[in-house]
Amino acid sequence: MCGIVGYVGQRSALDVVMGGLRRLEYRGYDSGGVALVVDGTIHSAKKAGKLLNLDAELAENPLPVAHTGIGHTRWATHGAPNDVNAHPHLDETGRVAVVHNGIIENFAVLRTELERAGHDLLSETDTEVVAHLLHDELARTPDLSDAVRAVCRRLEGAFTLVICDAEQPDVVVGARRNSPLVVGRGDGENFLGSDVAAFIEHTRDAVELGQDQVVTITPDAIVVTDFFGAPAETTEYHVDWDVSAAEKGGYEWFMLKEMDEQPQAVADTLLGRHSPGGQLQLDEMRLSDDELREVDRIVIIACGTASYAGLVAKYAIEHWTRIPCEVELASEFRYRDPILDKSTLVVAISQSGETMDTLMAIRYARQQRARVLSICNTNGSTIPRESDAVIYTHAGPEVAVASTKGFLSQVVACYLLALYLAQVKGTKYGDEIDDILAEIAAVPAGIQRLLDEGDQVRKLASDLSGARSILFLGRHVGYPVALEGALKLKELAYIHAEGFAAGELKHGPIALVEEGLPVFVVVPPKGRDQLQEKTVSSIQEIRARGARTIVLAEDGDDDVIPYADHLIRLPKVPTLLQPLVATVPLQIFATEFAHQLGHDVDQPRNLAKSVTVE
Ligand code: AGP
Repeated sequence: MCGIVGYVGQRSALDVVMGGLRRLEYRGYDSGGVALVVDGTIHSAKKAGKLLNLDAELAENPLPVAHTGIGHTRWATHGAPNDVNAHPHLDETGRVAVVHNGIIENFAVLRTELERAGHDLLSETDTEVVAHLLHDELARTPDLSDAVRAVCRRLEGAFTLVICDAEQPDVVVGARRNSPLVVGRGDGENFLGSDVAAFIEHTRDAVELGQDQVVTITPDAIVVTDFFGAPAETTEYHVDWDVSAAEKGGYEWFMLKEMDEQPQAVADTLLGRHSPGGQLQLDEMRLSDDELREVDRIVIIACGTASYAGLVAKYAIEHWTRIPCEVELASEFRYRDPILDKSTLVVAISQSGETMDTLMAIRYARQQRARVLSICNTNGSTIPRESDAVIYTHAGPEVAVASTKGFLSQVVACYLLALYLAQVKGTKYGDEIDDILAEIAAVPAGIQRLLDEGDQVRKLASDLSGARSILFLGRHVGYPVALEGALKLKELAYIHAEGFAAGELKHGPIALVEEGLPVFVVVPPKGRDQLQEKTVSSIQEIRARGARTIVLAEDGDDDVIPYADHLIRLPKVPTLLQPLVATVPLQIFATEFAHQLGHDVDQPRNLAKSVTVE
């Protein structure tokens, strides 16, 4: 949700800023812009649409060489995605330039105040008020950092701001409340970015910023304070991946690369969690075993794909630990006055660690004295920082807007959490936990097989690319897989796609079935619970009504053959682990379907990778 870059140093600021924006474009791609400080003047360029448009603008109207600059790639909130609303926004004298991520909730009041005082605001954005407030503040307080602190004290809502000043050429100031901002420490140069991808090409040494902090970077210094100017403590860390992980590496899209990285992401998420003595260890678990033994209820909160990982977790947690578990959309959670206390463990799942709905939900949970554990893929991000414990998924950076390896590694982390709780609570013996871990460790080979067999799914996607509606059915943990398959298709192909619990079909959705409607059905492995048989019955029911059935069933399940118009074989895995394999063909299908329609696979319309507004 908007990518922000700032730079001071010896290099061409434009090159650094544009390079950073390209790596952050997944965060938003409605418009892009840059501002450079040269000889006491700010030079800026901005353009609606993807960064390619800004590149063209810069080629036509080049900016002078500069060593201080800021940049922005936007996901529009206030104001249409056009040139005028694109960031940076300048004050009327052109002294300061501001880029912003978030929503300034009191901007209407501030705008009215500024207009009454004679300011002329050009855009429809909430951001522009900051440039004008800074103009007034700099008349009283010549130091940019002081002026930024004074303005931040007046702002409400969520904001990351990065600002440069024509009169202070070697300084860039950033501020953050509720939205992400990290500092990159260089040698004779320093960087600001919405995430480390912005500067990973130049440095892997990063500084975390806390809530309500202002950072001032010059070529040789990084100074962090609170909004009142008091020095603030910061945490430095070294990023454990490099620039190659943030690049396409020969793939046409990041999404294809990230799908192919899934066997590794699953294996890496398991790595180092199981000691030779058989005890499961979660290093980032800052809750004691005694505290975990007190847990009598688990509430999982997450959004989108992460919430489907949470649905899978519910089955595993309740089955392995017997602790009641519910799953709730983070955006709904705090508005229903949930009943929480210190024996409730709230589990927040977030790939980015910055999703505002999830962040607000965990803050609410902590106010209610619940303990919060997060499952996250982004070291140093806000959600794990504000949690009592964290399990990191080691999937590496996920750039494509549609989550793939993020999801599978979240599911693995959920299994690890469930098994850890089972170990602590004594609901599973050590050798049972060992067996399950060995089964999970075997899954990457199955995922690899499905990736290798992707051509048959791509052919199917090409055959079906004229479809305007596709349904997905599953039962048990196959139900979240169905939801995920439908979400992937909606995100990438922009067609009607819906996931249903197969047993629920007869209670209404079967009315949607008509001649030729493609319906994917995830069939559970055969077991004592008769779910496989019941799912096969559902397939017969929809086929009898004209559906074109695409059946995902494990190797050796021949019961499905007579009713499958198209059969996708899944490697045999235990029922609870089936999402790790069944999701993969659905990802391949959505990717190819979107490609057939000519859509941008990595950057689908209207979306952004990390949603940092509520
Ligand atoms: C996944 O394909 C989506 N782009 C989206 O649903 C995403 O999973 C959701 O916004 C949550 O993001 P998070 O994991 O970063 O919190």
